[in-house]
Amino acid sequence: MDDSLQTTKANAGAALWVPQPTQDGSFTFFSEAFGESFHSLAGARQEALLKFVTATRLRERAARSPLRLLDVCYGLGYNTAAALETIWTVNPRCQVDVVGLELDATVPLGAIAPALIDPWPPEVQEILRAIAQTHHCTTPTLQAKLWIGDARQTIQSLVQQGFQADAIFFDPFSPRRCPQLWTVEFFQQVARCLAPTGMLATYSRSACVRAAMLAAGLHIGTIPLVDDHPPHEWSQGTVAAFETSHLLPLSPMEQEHLHTRAAIPYRDPQLTDDAATILQRHQAEQRASQRESTSSWRRRWGIV
Ligand SMILES: C[S@@+](CC[C@H](N)C(=O)[O-])C[C@H]1O[C@@H](n2cnc3c(N)ncnc32)[C@H](O)[C@@H]1O
Repeated sequence: MDDSLQTTKANAGAALWVPQPTQDGSFTFFSEAFGESFHSLAGARQEALLKFVTATRLRERAARSPLRLLDVCYGLGYNTAAALETIWTVNPRCQVDVVGLELDATVPLGAIAPALIDPWPPEVQEILRAIAQTHHCTTPTLQAKLWIGDARQTIQSLVQQGFQADAIFFDPFSPRRCPQLWTVEFFQQVARCLAPTGMLATYSRSACVRAAMLAAGLHIGTIPLVDDHPPHEWSQGTVAAFETSHLLPLSPMEQEHLHTRAAIPYRDPQLTDDAATILQRHQAEQRASQRESTSSWRRRWGIV
């Protein structure tokens, strides 16, 4: 692609997205369409490092090469950027293969504006620029591809290719805003892209998300809270894997949550329904359920 076309595309992306500062000095975007920020306002960079890179043990696993990463909902590319920074700090020669799935190509383009890209090392900044502008990047230690489209469809092509990820970053907007990416059927496809020893991490600790992962044949563990957390919180997210060896068991409170109505998972039998249809189906199933109500579980554990 010639330079002027690249600049025009980058400017178009930047014009659509207004950077919002987060508490660690890095920036995020707010999506009007989904009514939500792309990251925790406590810190976008910190969230990528803690809930995705640390949770999938990439620092410990970077000695092994090659490593394959699947970034579901690539967005600004922060989870990929944090992973590459971490892996190459430990092992600069590690060969990394990254596939990102993203609906909206203007998001990664908006994210390569100077203030947004500054927190990452220069080598990683170059990679983020190439991925945003051309949807791929090849260097001696990296093969990266960004697949633009609905992840419910692109994941099926990835399954056909036999892609097996050592780490999956699972980062859609929240289940209520984007239920189509938290269904049993979507997790079944994603699980087919997870290597037998691979780990999937997400920021969500919702019972319906955890139930969908279990229904897709995965084991689950918790991402524990850090010291300074709000009183109503019980976890920072969920890790899923086929092996249990590196999973932190759920607390008794989290296990009981999985027996409440909140643990009825979203369904999308053909992977084509819109959000409203999936939410309606879910509400009908919850209304018909004989399980304990989530409010009674909350009262029992003193969650306000
Ligand atoms: C919470 S943000 C992801 C943040 C990102 N991981 C990062 O570090 O910047 C959710 C992303 O999902 C994308 N998205 C929404 N619906 C999608 C779909 N059906 N398929 C693929 N991506 C989707 C949005 O465009 C947005 O970029």
